Order: sequence, then structure tokens, then C-alpha cells
Amino acid sequence: VVLVSPRFQAPKGTRDLLPPATAVWAAVEDTARRVFARYGFHEIRTPIFEDTELFVRGVGASSDVVGKEMYTFEDKGGRSLTLRPESTAPVVRAYVEHGMRSWPQPVKLYYIGPQFRHERPQKGRYREFRQIGVELLGKAGPEADVEVILVLVRFLTELGLEPEVRLNTVGDEASRTTFRAALVSHLRPVADRLSEDSRRRLDTNPLRILDTKSPEERELLRDAPRLDDHLSEESRRHFSAVQEHLRAFDVRFTIDPTLVRGLDYYTHTVFEVSASGLGAQDAICGGGAYDQLVAELGGPPTYGVGFAIGQDRLVDVLPPGSAARRGTVAPVVVVALKTIPGKEGDRGVSPVFALLEQMRREGIAAIEGPSRKERLFEFAEREGAPAIVFLAEDELARGEISVREMATRITHTMARERLFPDLKSSSFLPSSPLEVKR
Ligand code: HAM
Repeated sequence: VVLVSPRFQAPKGTRDLLPPATAVWAAVEDTARRVFARYGFHEIRTPIFEDTELFVRGVGASSDVVGKEMYTFEDKGGRSLTLRPESTAPVVRAYVEHGMRSWPQPVKLYYIGPQFRHERPQKGRYREFRQIGVELLGKAGPEADVEVILVLVRFLTELGLEPEVRLNTVGDEASRTTFRAALVSHLRPVADRLSEDSRRRLDTNPLRILDTKSPEERELLRDAPRLDDHLSEESRRHFSAVQEHLRAFDVRFTIDPTLVRGLDYYTHTVFEVSASGLGAQDAICGGGAYDQLVAELGGPPTYGVGFAIGQDRLVDVLPPGSAARRGTVAPVVVVALKTIPGKEGDRGVSPVFALLEQMRREGIAAIEGPSRKERLFEFAEREGAPAIVFLAEDELARGEISVREMATRITHTMARERLFPDLKSSSFLPSSPLEVKR
């Protein structure tokens, strides 16, 4: 085999999603829409690019995302624009811009779409990746956090996963200010033993040092001050209420005091969900509350909480039995046994082509199969076809038609008029595989 490398390839860190995988992606999105709607979330679509300043202000200049990973460019009008690296800041921008504070609160939004970060590509980490996220705005307190975690857990559960949520609190502004000071005075004397990144964070965002993966740094952090010793009374009460509610709903969670999240807007509850089998990039979801972001972006003080799931990673960990793995409705395969001459004063349309279109108008998914029999069965199986319809001249002349049911391998010959009613009513066409069993 001679491999010729093609002239053009998808840019580094991006990829084409091809069939049959795209059916799984679509099924995951359908499940998201269905579950989110059940909790009263509505879809929002924001632009793929925004003013650069939105992310600098919103996500925070000290975050890796803003500091190193943004796709920023100047347009022909000299504006600095950035391909969105995340969607919380854009959603909050839209909330403020459209005066959603005067809508009935809370405003519950979800989004599905591509995000862009200039990271070093590896398994599960791309420069263009897709997120499925929700934001709940305008309702304060533990119940808002819990509702968002519940919708997350329900969604992942309906996809066949058994999520365990890692949970922490980063406290409110006041808790963080005193904790930050304590952490810096603990680490400053040993700064020369910190990595270059962490030393820089000592000045920009000391809390981020807590989620270091380096064993030496973890050692230095062992007797460092802990955020939970610096929580304000209000933060402490908030966090224990969240845990109590989650227990009441039987949500599986663990407390992870090292969980601080990489974006600067969080206050109070933060959480992640990881999945095994993904290697180093094992976080399939991250989220948390933010009580300053709306005001930071020019709106009235408003509490928000949300999460985003990395869809690329999610699709990789779907269990084999997941309904979403089965993808979309499989088509019936139609095939002519021999070349049949056109009928019914046709205008050059072959009987297979004509029948296919009739079936589709009846709401039956249908495609043409190869006429060689050995190939036909393989083809039908690969398509997941529930049935094969054979067009044979002698049968058609008698007003009959044959249908092979793939599951039982039985071929029935029936009156031509029975074809559509039977296909639609019988086990040939299972109801949509996306339908949940209640
Ligand atoms: P994040 O933790 O930066 O949070 O991203 C959420 C998820 O997106 C990650 O857990 C991961 O699954 C996926 N992800 C991130 N970067 C990549 C990448 N380069 N390649 C593939 N997948 C990736 C946020 O974006 C917040 N906006 C979440 C949020 C919403 N917080 C509150 N509301």
C-alpha cells in the first residue's frame, strides 16, 4: 500500500467527525436537549468569536486559558477578537446585554458547540473541541448549585454512565482574600523550590498552585494553610447545605480539597466529573458557581452556576450499552433482484428509486442496497437495517413483494399494499432507539 499524504489536512488539534460516529454525537446531543428541557433549560446560541476583552475580564487574565491559549486576531476594522475558549462569559454577556435580569428568574440556559484553545494536542485534548453546557442565572444559594449538579448527573446517567462528582468550595470573595494572604506567606519563603509556573502564580493566582500535579510541590503544600480553615460563616453554611441536599438526592460525590478549577470566576461550589479510561485528560466535566461575574461584565449583582461537559471526551467513554451508542434510526434496505424494466408508464425512474422515495414520504428510512447477494447481507448488517425489501419482477407482476426480517432471517412474501402498513406497525421498525424507557 502506498500512502500518499494528502495536500490538505485538517489543522493541527482539529478533527473531522465522520459517520458512523456522527450519529453517536447527534444522539448525545438529543439526550442533552431532552434531559435539559425536563429541567426547564432553554437553548442559547452565542457567536463563535467575541471581543477579546470579554474573556480577559470574564475568565481572568491570570488563567492559562487567557494567558496562553486564546485564538486572538485583529479583524479588518482593527478590533481584537477571540474565538471563544469557553462559553460562560459569552452567556453572561448575553444575559446582561439582553436585560435578562428583568425576565422571570432564574434564567436557565444551555448550549452545545465548538470552543477553541491553543493547547498542546494529545488524546482527549484538542484545539477545537465541543462542549455541552448549562448556566443557571438569577437564583442564589445552595439549591441553585444542587439543581445544576442534578441535571448533570441525570444527563450522564441517561447516557449509561455512573458519574461521581468531585466537589469543593472556593469560598466567597472574603474567604478567598484571607486565605490567599495566608497561602502566600506560607509559600513565599520556599518560593525557590516551586516550579516557574507556580512562582508566577504566587503573584497572579496563588490558589491555582493547589492543583499542582508535581510531587515535590504537593509535599510543600502538605502543611500549607487550608481554604476550609478560612471559610466565612456564610461560605461554610452554603457548602454544607449543598452536601446535605446532594445526599438527600443520593448523588454520589466526594469532597476534594485540592479542586480549584482553572478559570478565575468561581466562588462557592466548584465540581468536576472524571472518567476512567481517558488517560491524562480525564475530566469530562467542570463547573461551579460564580457570584461576581455578572457584575464584572456590567450587570447587576447576580448569582450564577453552571457546568460544561467536554463532548469529545464524553463520546469516548460512553459504555457499549448506552442508547446513544446505537445512534439514529437505521434504514430499510431496498434492492432489485434483477434489473426490472420500468413500469407504470414511468419517465425513466427505476422501480427501486421510486419505491425508496415512496417509503421516505411515508416516514420510513430507506436506502438502496447492492444487488449481489453476498454483499447485500453484509451491507444491511453494517447499516443496522431492520429489513431488506426485494423487488422481483415476477412477484411484482402478481402484486406481491418480499421482505426479509434481519433479526429472524425470515423472508415473508406479502401483498404489495401490505408493505407500508406492515413495515410501520411490525417489529421491522423498532421505535426510535433514543426513546427512554419509563
Ligand atoms: P473547563 O473545565 O475549562 O470549564 O472545561 C470544561 C470541560 O471541557 C473539561 O472538563 C473538558 O472535558 C472539556 N475541555 C476543556 N478543554 C478541552 C480541550 N482542549 N480538548 C477537549 N476537551 C476540553 C469551562 O469551560 C467552564 N466554562 C465550565 C462552566 C460553566 N463553569 C460554569 N459554567
